This record gives sequence, structure tokens and C-alpha cells, in this order.
Amino acid sequence: MARNDSGASFVVVANRLPVDRVTDDGGEVGWRRSPGGLVSALGPVMRKADGAWLGWAGTPDEAPAPFEEDGMSLVPVPLSETDIELYYEGFSNSTLWPLYHDAVAPPVYDRRYWDAYVTVNERFAQAAADVAAPGAVVWVQDYQLQLVPAMLRDARPDLRIGFFLHIPFPPGELYLQLPWRREILEGLIGADVVGFQRPGAATNFRRLCHRLLGYPYRGHHVDLGSRMVRAEAFPISVDVTELVELARRPEVQERARAFRRELGDPDWLLLSVDRLDYTKGIGERLHAFSELFADGLLSPGEAVLVQIATPSRERVEQYRRLRDEVELQVGRINGQLGQLGTPIVDYSHSSYAREDLVALYLAADVMVVTPVRDGMNLVAKEYVACREDLRGALVLSEFAGAADELHRAFLVNPHDIDGMKRRIMEALRAEPTERARRMRSMRRRVVEHDVNAWSADFLATLDPHYAEQIHITEPDTGRGMRNVKI
Ligand code: ADP
Ligand code: G6P
Repeated sequence: MARNDSGASFVVVANRLPVDRVTDDGGEVGWRRSPGGLVSALGPVMRKADGAWLGWAGTPDEAPAPFEEDGMSLVPVPLSETDIELYYEGFSNSTLWPLYHDAVAPPVYDRRYWDAYVTVNERFAQAAADVAAPGAVVWVQDYQLQLVPAMLRDARPDLRIGFFLHIPFPPGELYLQLPWRREILEGLIGADVVGFQRPGAATNFRRLCHRLLGYPYRGHHVDLGSRMVRAEAFPISVDVTELVELARRPEVQERARAFRRELGDPDWLLLSVDRLDYTKGIGERLHAFSELFADGLLSPGEAVLVQIATPSRERVEQYRRLRDEVELQVGRINGQLGQLGTPIVDYSHSSYAREDLVALYLAADVMVVTPVRDGMNLVAKEYVACREDLRGALVLSEFAGAADELHRAFLVNPHDIDGMKRRIMEALRAEPTERARRMRSMRRRVVEHDVNAWSADFLATLDPHYAEQIHITEPDTGRGMRNVKI
């Protein structure tokens, strides 16, 4: 950790550590990479900056002593069973998550959830204040910790504080439902820079600061009088170098061929990889895909959809129900339209090693990413990064942040089942030259704006001097890596 005597000069504060504490069948305790896009995005930055990452270790009550893992210094922050229920499953994932995703599931407004959210945000702010060196750069992550910037500024006005929201930030029509709408904005403006995935989200935020707190805004800045807060879009991306390196490995390519063989060598392998979340549009996608078989446009054995659904937030009622619904739907589809030994949907509810995920990306003729709302969707960018061979095709929802950049995907409205069916068939039937043209254009964007470019842009906006000091702005970090073919 880059520490002087009194702390770390770079601190990431996130709800989760990048690893979860797990106990295997033999009682042995170890660490496993945490789920979700945040971890995929911040790992590379952390290793470069050599800072400290504060977060929850994924199990109740235990807060192991700070430790090193995978080149990162990790500082666990404890959450009790009650914190998990009220702050994590409650306010974070039953109130904010659905509200910020267009209220596609009804948000729950419960005062006990809010009280716990305040208490846990105070704990994280205190932990960051304890760890940060004088004048350190602190980067707070995501919707679980929106109060931390102001709390931390109160305790440590010497710090440079950034905040990045990985999920959408809703327009006033939705945001105004929140009983604690002023408090959340007051928490966020404690930061010097508030980053969002899309320009529209930054606009929503600046307008709401004006409407609810009375602060004027000019350009990207909200003017607090005493200081300026910069609110701007910094679209997040993926670690292209890591993915390309994996995709080039002969054993990963062999694994990709093996996956196809295991699936009976279909003409068309379609792939979807999502956390099992109601924002991901899994039901709509399965519906559209299965109708292609019911209509006789595809037949069992000719095409198969591999649906990987990563276990997520399993104690939250809406997630439990979703799992039942998806699994019932898969069973029905295969029962009605598949044949014995030749399912239409090959479904798996588990986590995969990075190598296996990349092998699946290489095996897939068409990647189908159809969320009804998604801050960015890293899976779409990971697929594009891996397809150096230019042979895959991407079907992508207009409602994913990634659609702002990946214009040459086969874009779909996931609510329009007929439209989705047509686009899937177009993607399947596209000539190789057409697929290559589209993939090349998408790869150019992802390679030039990889995760290093994302963090470099954010940190250079937050603290140009610090960004220079850790060499994060150097040209070989992102923006056209020499080794990667477009
Ligand atoms: P979200 O952040 O909502 O989960 P993203 O698509 O932005 O969605 O990020 C998901 C991340 O989790 C990606 O980096 C993806 O590779 C990873 N991931 C998703 N499913 C799995 C899985 N079953 N096993 C391992 N990693 C997964
Ligand atoms: C999304 C969120 C992250 C979260 C991840 C996994 O990517 O933006 O903040 O960590 O999902 O969700 P979980 O609830 O398991 O942390």
C-alpha cells in the first residue's frame, strides 16, 4: 500500500471488497472474486495505484484484519446480520436499486432501512477517514455509499473526494419519489467530482441539485457558492489487455471448441451472461428466443441459447421470485420445444472462472444482452474485447449504457418481442463481412476506451497532479494498446 506514516495516499471505498470470504467443504477459509461489474473495473486501477480498498468481506459480522490479496491492500469493514438485512438487502437493494432502474420492480420505502443506511455510511466514512493520508485521493463507489462523500468531507476536509455511480441515475419524475431525496443529494455533493455512466444521468443530477437544493449549475458544474462540484459522464469499460491475453491462449480456444462439442455442435450458439437480476431482461429474451422455435424459424439442434445466470442477492424476495420464474420458464421452453438431449436453452445458475467465461465468449456466434435498464453492462464490452477474430455478433438493448458507444451492435428494445426476434435472426443471418465490419467498429471504441482510460479520465479530472504522479495518464494505459488488433 502506498502509505506514508499516517495512511494511504489513494483509497477506494466500495460496499464490497473485490473478494468474498468463502469457507470450503473442508472448513478451509479462502477468498473468491466478488460478483459484478464494479470489481472487474476497479481491480486494474487499484493494482496500479497501490492504494487501500475498503469494503465488506461478504459474510456477516466478521471483519478480518487488513490483508493483501491479488496485489491489492484490502481493509474489511464489518456488516452485522441486521446491517445486511436493512442497509444492503433493504435500502440499497430494495429501495435504491429498483428506483434507479426505472422502478421496474416497486421500490420499498421503509424508515428502518434508511436509518441503517445512514449508520452504515457513517461507518464507511469513518473507516476511510482513519485510513487516508493527509491530502489523499479517496474514490467512493456506487449507490450503497452515496452519503459517504459529505460525511468524509466533514471529518477530513483535506481530502480530494471522488464519487462514481455505476448504475443509472433517474430523472426527476422517478427520483422525487424518494422520501430522503434531499439527503442523498447532500451526501453526493460532498464529492469534488461525481461521475456517472451516461451524460443524461449527470444532467438529471445537476437539475435535481437545482430543484431540491437550490444550487445553480453551469456546464458540468454545480455551484455551491463555497466550491464547485463537477458532475459528468465517465462511461466505464473493461480490461481489454487482460481479456485479449486470455482469448489468445490456445487452451482457452480449445475450451471454446469443447463447449461447442458438449452442446452437440449446433450451427448457432447464442450466449447470455447476467447476474440473476430483474433488470437484465432475462424473461423477455427467453420469450423472444423460444418463439423463434415455436414459429419454425429455428429448430432444436440448429440453435441453442446458453444462459448463464450468476447467483445474486438471493435473500431479497424479488430475486428469489425471479429465480423461480426464470427456472420455470426454462423448464417449460425445453419441455415444450426442445427434444430429449437437445435443449433449446442451456441454463446454468453458477459463477465461472474468468478463463471459462472468455472461452464461452469465443464459442458464441451471437451474444445476446437485453437488459430493460443497465448502467453500462460490461458483459457486452467484454464480448467485443475478446472477439479479435471479428466473427461474433452482438445483440444489445438500447437501454444499456453500452448502447451509447456500441452503435454497430444489433440494437433492440427488449420490450418489443417481435423486434427482438427480427434482430436475433438478422444477427444470425448476417454475412461474415457484415459481422466483421460491425465488430471492428465496436472493437475500436472498446480498445480506445478501456478501463484504464476510464480511471485515467476520472482521476485526471479529480486530481490531475495525483494522476500524473501514479503515471495513470501515460499513453500505453488505454487508448490504443499497441498489442491489440482492431
Ligand atoms: P452487473 O454489474 O449488473 O453485474 P455487468 O455486466 O456490468 O453487470 O458486470 C458483470 C460482471 O460480472 C462482468 O465482469 C462479468 O464478466 C462478470 N460475471 C457475470 N456473470 C458471471 C459468472 N457467472 N461468473 C463469473 N463472472 C461473471
Ligand atoms: C452491480 C453494482 C455493484 C455490485 C454488483 C454485485 O455491479 O453496481 O455495486 O457490487 O452489482 O452486486 P452485489 O449486491 O452482489 O454486491
